[in-house]
Amino acid sequence: MENQESKINRRKFLEKSATGTLAAAVFTASSPAIAFSSFSKNKKRVALVGTGSRGSGMWGRQIVEDYSDVAEMVGLYDINKKRAEYAKTYMKTDANIFPDFEKMIKETRPDYVIVATVDSHHWEYAVRAMEMGCDVISEKPVATDEKQCQAIWDAHKKTGKKVIVGFNARHNPRRIEMKELLMADKIGKIISVDFLEYLNVYHGASYFRRWHAYKKNSGTLLVHKSTHHFDQINWWLEADPVEVTAYGQLGHYGKNSDFRGEKCRTCPHKDSCSFYWDITQYEHYMKLYVNCEDVDGYFRDACVFRKDIDIYDAMSVIVKYNNGVQLTYSLNAFLPFEGPAVAFNGTEGRLEKTFEPGEWEKDYSEYRLTMNFEQPQTFKVKRRTGGHGGADIGIKNMIFRGIGDDPYKLHADLRAGIMSAITGIAAYRSIETGKPVKIADLINLT
Ligand SMILES: NC(=O)c1ccc[n+]([C@@H]2O[C@H](COP(=O)([O-])OP(=O)(O)OC[C@H]3O[C@@H](n4cnc5c(N)ncnc54)[C@H](O)[C@@H]3O)[C@@H](O)[C@H]2O)c1
Repeated sequence: MENQESKINRRKFLEKSATGTLAAAVFTASSPAIAFSSFSKNKKRVALVGTGSRGSGMWGRQIVEDYSDVAEMVGLYDINKKRAEYAKTYMKTDANIFPDFEKMIKETRPDYVIVATVDSHHWEYAVRAMEMGCDVISEKPVATDEKQCQAIWDAHKKTGKKVIVGFNARHNPRRIEMKELLMADKIGKIISVDFLEYLNVYHGASYFRRWHAYKKNSGTLLVHKSTHHFDQINWWLEADPVEVTAYGQLGHYGKNSDFRGEKCRTCPHKDSCSFYWDITQYEHYMKLYVNCEDVDGYFRDACVFRKDIDIYDAMSVIVKYNNGVQLTYSLNAFLPFEGPAVAFNGTEGRLEKTFEPGEWEKDYSEYRLTMNFEQPQTFKVKRRTGGHGGADIGIKNMIFRGIGDDPYKLHADLRAGIMSAITGIAAYRSIETGKPVKIADLINLT
């Protein structure tokens, strides 16, 4: 719980920041989000399942390089052994590659199992890891349908083991700043939230090239991608979703083209297609994916216009929360520019972070606070560097170096993981059925 002193300091900050002058001095590039209580004396034994891009990078090489004082990689497993072999070299680890998951757990006895596979398989490894006595660090989303959510929750309750969910986005300084501003209670009682996520024709299109393009793998972008956003809303509001209504369509990628190929490398339309992407330019991707295609037939540069793509690229969602707040959320994945626009509408004013094209090049973010009957005030907050805007380092520090007091409640447990995933699951169930979906009809978290 926040203490009175920090509340007063936040009030002072906001009063001064309304003049637009002090905020940058308060949130500096180096100010830590968390006061680390202590460094672990014993190294955590870590086994990794899923040695793709995220597994071998953020959870693999970076742990080996930057956290070797507190963590030791003890085992690697991937369904594609060739990929695991390249990942081992890339990660510069001595950890053995195992032919199956359970053998790895039995022989290496890890403290943590990191799960970074394709989304729809997270739950099975999380459940098995807990049953075998390990704690779990699961990449988001923790699960892609309601049955998976229930299975992972039940295993957690039965075994008492914990699941930390990889909500690195909470650790993005801009998200923390928003949390701090909300904790300062400046805009009165929050009645509604607007959250618009824009993905551009590079980043947005990339989901349609990859395994994410199929609902059976990703639970659609409403789960794979929006799990970050729904988690942020739940965390910012400290509330649970109750009911979800959604619409979705595939209006740009997939079937919506009069030409297509199998993959960019061999495509007859490569000279004319604006979505042509040349994977051969990326040595790491060639080794991680192309050289391993003979094992599983997975093309990392598959055509964004494949006819069987079954996820949506335009999604609109309304969520009702247990504190009465209404969320209006949308995600569009085919836009000329990228970035979120978030606004909190309160009884005394509106706090908003609106994306401006070109903003990524600046070393600060701008927020706008408009109190009722007053002029808008803008203020600037300095950026941090590092993967995902400093967020990747933030979450690893929290897990491996201790969470300290965690004043911003950055720690995301299994409940948080499920509450965000289930919001997206409820959204695609609503699209499927054309009806509002109650969260309580999907999951029982007792
Ligand atoms: N938090 C973030 O910001 C962030 C960013 C990127 C990816 N991710 C998450 O990380 C995970 C991996 O994504 P990626 O981009 O590395 O994808 P990827 O395709 O590079 O890697 C996925 C790996 O999982 C393996 N795999 C698939 N099915 C498996 C199974 N049944 N058992 C074992 N291994 C299996 C694949 O062979 C592959 O090596 C996803 O869940 C994704 O949502 C999170």
